Amino acid sequence: MAVKLGVNIDHVATLRQARKSVDPDPIAAAKVARTNGADLIVCHLRADRRHVQDADVLKLRGEVKTQLHLEMADTPEMVAFALKAKPDSVCFVPESPKEVTTEGGLNLKQGSQSGLEKSIKKLTAAGIGVSIFVDPDAVSVRIAKNLGADTVELCTTSYAGVQGKLKQNAELEKLELAAYLAHELGLELHAGHDLDYHNVQAVARIPHMECLNIGFAIMARSMFTGLRAAVGEMKKLIASAR
Ligand code: PXP
Repeated sequence: MAVKLGVNIDHVATLRQARKSVDPDPIAAAKVARTNGADLIVCHLRADRRHVQDADVLKLRGEVKTQLHLEMADTPEMVAFALKAKPDSVCFVPESPKEVTTEGGLNLKQGSQSGLEKSIKKLTAAGIGVSIFVDPDAVSVRIAKNLGADTVELCTTSYAGVQGKLKQNAELEKLELAAYLAHELGLELHAGHDLDYHNVQAVARIPHMECLNIGFAIMARSMFTGLRAAVGEMKKLIASAR
């Protein structure tokens, strides 16, 4: 089965918000991504609205004819918004106000997760798929399953950030083991964060991997090559990895 590519369009909105302008338009970007290899369009609606805005998500839902995947924190505001916007799926991610980007998977190991479980139930009842962004460890994957998620997205930040072949292989092995467990538990398997043109193929080769969600590297490359080529190149690397 081919590994899907989810293209995250947040940073098109980051550039637009730098001038509070209308350009570049993330909806136009999503359309270019879709016609050049994106299987999913991904965006993260943050509490501080620093890039994607509510209206962007609603427009993406209405105008872009592909699977829409919304990343968000588990807050009453976001759950209510997701129920209104009706993306095909959501991914619960941790969010802290001062972070530059998402800092690892959700910490499911501490405290009660009954709030998250209730949110998952509400979204599932509305026909919205639910993923949880987790670090690649067995405990987190098992908890995600027990909470009722249908998908886990394994955080690839540690793999992507480590220097040296040995350490990188060790991080890859953590991803492989978590992937194996996710598959055994009947979870759909995604991965993402900090993936780029140099490190993506090893992750695409992980058995049972179904989807890679990638934003920053594609948008950064598109500054020089254009978005069409940047998405197309990433799609080619993923398709030729196996
Ligand atoms: N997956 C998740 C859960 C994320 O929060 C993000 C960043 O929004 C990504 C994937 C994409 O990460 P990057 O922009 O580093 O490719």
